[in-house]
Amino acid sequence: MIKQEIVQRTAEYVRSKFEGESSGHDWWHIYRVWNNAKLIARSEECDQAIVELGALLHDIADYKFNNGNEEVGGIATQEWLKPFDIEDKYIQAIVHIVNNVSFKGEANNNKMQSIEGKIVQDADRLDAIGAVGIARCFAYGGYKGHMIYDPNVKPHLNMTKEEYKSHTGTQINHFYEKLLRLKDLMNTQTAKKIAEERHQFMEKYLEEFFAEWEGKR
Ligand code: NI
Repeated sequence: MIKQEIVQRTAEYVRSKFEGESSGHDWWHIYRVWNNAKLIARSEECDQAIVELGALLHDIADYKFNNGNEEVGGIATQEWLKPFDIEDKYIQAIVHIVNNVSFKGEANNNKMQSIEGKIVQDADRLDAIGAVGIARCFAYGGYKGHMIYDPNVKPHLNMTKEEYKSHTGTQINHFYEKLLRLKDLMNTQTAKKIAEERHQFMEKYLEEFFAEWEGKR
C-alpha cells in the first residue's frame, strides 16, 4: 500500500518543478492529467495510488525538453520515490508508466503493459484534445515558432518516431497528424467516451476555422 501522503508530497514536488513553464507542459497540464486519471480509475480495477503517482510524474523529464534522452523520466522518478517507504515493485510499476507514456509516433503505441499505465496514457491523451487540447496545440506552436495554418503545407500522416520529432508543420496540420487520431488510441471505455465528445468539439472548431479563413462567415 502506498500512503496518500506520498501522493500529496509528489504533487507539491511536481508543482514546484513545473512552475513558470508555459509551453503546454506546465503544472496545470499535470493537474488536469491527474484529475482525468482519477476519473478513469474510478471505473477500472486498478491501484489508485500507482495511477496518481504515474499521472503526477508522467512528464517529469519530457523528452521534447531533454534533447531526446528518453530515459531521464524513469531515472528522475526512481530518484524521487526511493527515499519513501514504497516497495520496489511499486516503484518499478511507476517507472514503467513514466517511460512509456509519451506519444512518439503511432508505431510505438501499445508498449504500455499495466492497466495503471493505460489509464495515465488515456488521461494524458485526453488533455491533448477538446477545448484544452486546442489551446495547448497553439501554445506549443507559438513556443516552437510554427505557423497557425498554411493551405500550401499538407498534413504528413503516419510519421515514424524520428520524423515526428523533427517535423515542423503547421498547428492546424497537427490536428490531422495527431489530435484527431487520439480518440482511436484510447485504452479504456471511460476515456473512449470522453474522447468522443472532445473529438466532436474539435471537428466543429475546424469547420468554423476554415469557414472564417475563406471569409464565409
Ligand atoms: Ni503529458
